[in-house]
Amino acid sequence: MFVARRIPEEGLTTIAAACDADVWPDELPPPRDELLRRVAGCDGILTLLTDRVDDELLDAAGPGLRVVSNYAVGYDNVDVPACARRGVAVGNTPGVLTETTADLAWALLMAAARRVAEGDRYVRAGHWLTWGPLLLLGPDVHHATIGIVGFGRIGQAVARRAQGFGMDILYHDVAQLPDDVSGPLGATYVPLDELLRRSDFVSLHVNLTEETRHLINANTLATMKPTAVLINTSRGPVVDGAALATALRDGTIWAAGLDVTDPEPIPADDPLVGLDNCLIVPHIASASRATRGKMAAMAAANLVAGVRGEPLPTPVTADPV
Ligand code: DGY
Repeated sequence: MFVARRIPEEGLTTIAAACDADVWPDELPPPRDELLRRVAGCDGILTLLTDRVDDELLDAAGPGLRVVSNYAVGYDNVDVPACARRGVAVGNTPGVLTETTADLAWALLMAAARRVAEGDRYVRAGHWLTWGPLLLLGPDVHHATIGIVGFGRIGQAVARRAQGFGMDILYHDVAQLPDDVSGPLGATYVPLDELLRRSDFVSLHVNLTEETRHLINANTLATMKPTAVLINTSRGPVVDGAALATALRDGTIWAAGLDVTDPEPIPADDPLVGLDNCLIVPHIASASRATRGKMAAMAAANLVAGVRGEPLPTPVTADPV
């Protein structure tokens, strides 16, 4: 087995008990040629969202490969049909990171609206001279309208937080959810363009697919309110970053909070990095100690089951995130 990064002990212990695994020791991902070399002859590979699993990698692993266990709920880095063609099982880590990811989406929403990072920079730069009636004003979060795009597990967890803030909750997804799901959340289904037009806050929770790539682009941004705040904790390419930078600079929308960017890491000279109204954190939505431990345990369980030829506890499905 090859484990493409050191993961929390909750997973490494299970893997070590099952076999003598090769664990990549560095903080940075294995360079592509090293990854291809290391997987040769493996029966199982534990990958991260930074490792591309495609025909090239599957060829390099060879016919003995039985399982790819992705240490993430998202698996857009894995060519699942290519794995299926070779009889390679694919697992992911759904469910355990739902609340933790929603917490971070909420933190970004609050911080972008109330200019927390900007305020912190202001203080540290020595600019704080007095209490100011016009200093660092932002929109209210409470009782505003939130539009949640992608109403799976994480989107619904964000809706629960929005309920606590007395917000009007709109959602959009490929299909309208049954009333017994959306009703208790007080969430109303609307078409995407209506959601974008009406929302003060737009939070993205879709999988990255060909349909959702650049879902937020110059045209869709133009339909949003000039006071709107965009939050993205899904995948970077769901948003056209260049269009977002222009929209933030020109006042087409008011602010953004991003956990994910395209590419990752975002280059220091990317226009988004230079904007005070764009808050960016380094893809840490699931980064609580407890959640990363649970993800490790799940990914290890998938890996070990897969190499034994047993059904994976959590195989990838078309379920929403
Ligand atoms: C995921 O699991 O897909 C997140 O992006 C990382 O936890």
